[in-house]
Amino acid sequence: MTMQGLGMLGKAMQKRNMGNNTHVPLNDSVNSIEKELEELNETEEIPTSKEFVFLKNIIGNSNNPNLPILVLDSDLTIIHTTPAVIRLFSQYYDSFSKPFFNVFGKCLEQAELRELLTGIKSHDSGFSWTGTLKHKTPSTTTLYTTTTFIPFLEEDEKVSGYVVYFSDITRDHNNQLRATFQGIMEAAKLKDNETGLHNERVGYYSKKMAEYLYNNKLYSQLDPDFIENIAALAALHDVGKIGTPDYILQKPGKLSELEWEIMREHTINGTFILSSHPVPMAKEIALSHHEWWNGSGYPFMLEGTMIPLSARIVTIADVYDALRMKRTYKKEFSHDETVAHISAGAGTQFDPALVKVFLTIQHDFNEIWNLLRDSDDIEEDMRDRSMEFSAKEETLITPVQE
Ligand SMILES: [Fe+2]
Ligand SMILES: [Fe+2]
Repeated sequence: MTMQGLGMLGKAMQKRNMGNNTHVPLNDSVNSIEKELEELNETEEIPTSKEFVFLKNIIGNSNNPNLPILVLDSDLTIIHTTPAVIRLFSQYYDSFSKPFFNVFGKCLEQAELRELLTGIKSHDSGFSWTGTLKHKTPSTTTLYTTTTFIPFLEEDEKVSGYVVYFSDITRDHNNQLRATFQGIMEAAKLKDNETGLHNERVGYYSKKMAEYLYNNKLYSQLDPDFIENIAALAALHDVGKIGTPDYILQKPGKLSELEWEIMREHTINGTFILSSHPVPMAKEIALSHHEWWNGSGYPFMLEGTMIPLSARIVTIADVYDALRMKRTYKKEFSHDETVAHISAGAGTQFDPALVKVFLTIQHDFNEIWNLLRDSDDIEEDMRDRSMEFSAKEETLITPVQE
């Protein structure tokens, strides 16, 4: 059905409902209404009820012929699906000819489900509901939609069905989240300006390792969301340094034991800063990227797989990059020296299984380092190269298998 057709469908239903107080179940009448559309006289007076104006605004006046819309009958069974719905959800659901909640029920928490059911059955909320649905399968990234239920009302306020309209907000949702926390990262960088593109590189190494693990099915908890999340969140591992005093961060010589103690608090501070982040991995990485596999790390001396997988990956990425960097207190390590160091730390500092993976993909780490290494140039130049790399990275990284 075309967009215009849907607008007409709403109109035809309205016409039918307004002129006839007898309840006509939607699932019995959609086909006949579609036929009636052709006969509908375009010049007749357009109904002006609130519902119709609302429907017309949402559906009839839209310039987009591909709106993802479902039509439900009064029992909430899906009786019509636009091609845009099939396209939007093709990787998430395999059938739409079912009760709405059999298809989309798993997207809603209990409280949201109650709120939706109350909304669409209640006069006070206009027999309607708008909320966010989160769609996910093990082989897909999360899709977010703003979802709106609009009722078809008869004169006696009997609901004869609903139009459900989806709007894909995934990109906006993710961009907004990223922009917020990117700002915090930039603030942290101002405090610790020796790090250059270190944070960004740690994100790329971590993503590379997560992709390898996923493609080779090495950890069951790994899915496309994990890869997308670690790529963005690994860069925030040291965000807690925003709370570390400048005289410690910028001290040219060795730190005293007390100063080290304060420095170690950046893991806890990072967890506080990221406490409102909706993805738990953000806190896991900030808190545990200095834990050691043998239990001698900080802040909680976690051991082995008690350390979250995301943090175990970031630990290797972080150390690789820190060793390659030239700092005031250390020389720049070569790739081979760094690989030897990480290899020697398997089972003590690092997860030995991940070190094996690192050894397999070490040349990718070296390539990322070479493409994004810091120079003495101004920071603006670093940002340009980071953007160039983002574009190039699309061709460097093996596509994720679905
Ligand atoms: Fe750190
Ligand atoms: Fe770091």
